[in-house]
Amino acid sequence: MKSAEATSDTQKILDIGLEHLSQLRALESLCFEYHWTEEQFRLGLEKKAFFVLGYEEQGLLVGYLAYSIVLDEMEVLNLGVHPDFRRKGIGRALMQGLMLRCREMDVKRGLLDVKESNVPAIGLYESLGFVQVGVRKNYYPDTREDALLYDLNF
Ligand SMILES: CC(C)(COP(=O)(O)OP(=O)(O)OC[C@H]1O[C@@H](n2cnc3c(N)ncnc32)[C@H](O)[C@@H]1OP(=O)(O)O)[C@@H](O)C(=O)NCCC(=O)NCCS
Repeated sequence: MKSAEATSDTQKILDIGLEHLSQLRALESLCFEYHWTEEQFRLGLEKKAFFVLGYEEQGLLVGYLAYSIVLDEMEVLNLGVHPDFRRKGIGRALMQGLMLRCREMDVKRGLLDVKESNVPAIGLYESLGFVQVGVRKNYYPDTREDALLYDLNF
């Protein structure tokens, strides 16, 4: 792990690097049916097309958040928490960690999309101040569900 912002001795938010690919890939497959391959993670991280924050508890990667930053705009690409560790504030901690970094980097705006049926994620994003600004019809290749588009001005 490259760096750590300790929230306590046992719970940390970290920048995820190539050395954590297999853990990241394993965690993602627990969180999503339709997921990225290890190669997609590798290429993205190598080319800095996106970045990943991880949440570690007692040495185990239990949450991750993939995001990109282009100029002064951030986009959340993926957020997942291990099923056994949900509803403990980990998703919120990862999002707040990212929002803090964005403010420090003078990023002005955050964007994301979410499946209209994803009640937990919508609850999380709205509780952080994200506001729905649009809908993309039949957006997701796996379910053909609509995407709700959310936006936050920092
Ligand atoms: C969405 C997800 C990341 C939330 O992570 P989490 O660590 O469980 O969330 P938190 O404990 O930080 O919850 C923060 C808030 O989100 C909302 N929330 C989380 N889970 C919820 C649920 N099951 N039902 C309703 N609201 C929920 C609540 O507003 C909650 O605040 P509260 O606990 O004070 O009520 C997690 O459910 C997950 O990994 N889901 C599968 C992958 C996924 O759908 N990712 C999002 C893709 S856009």
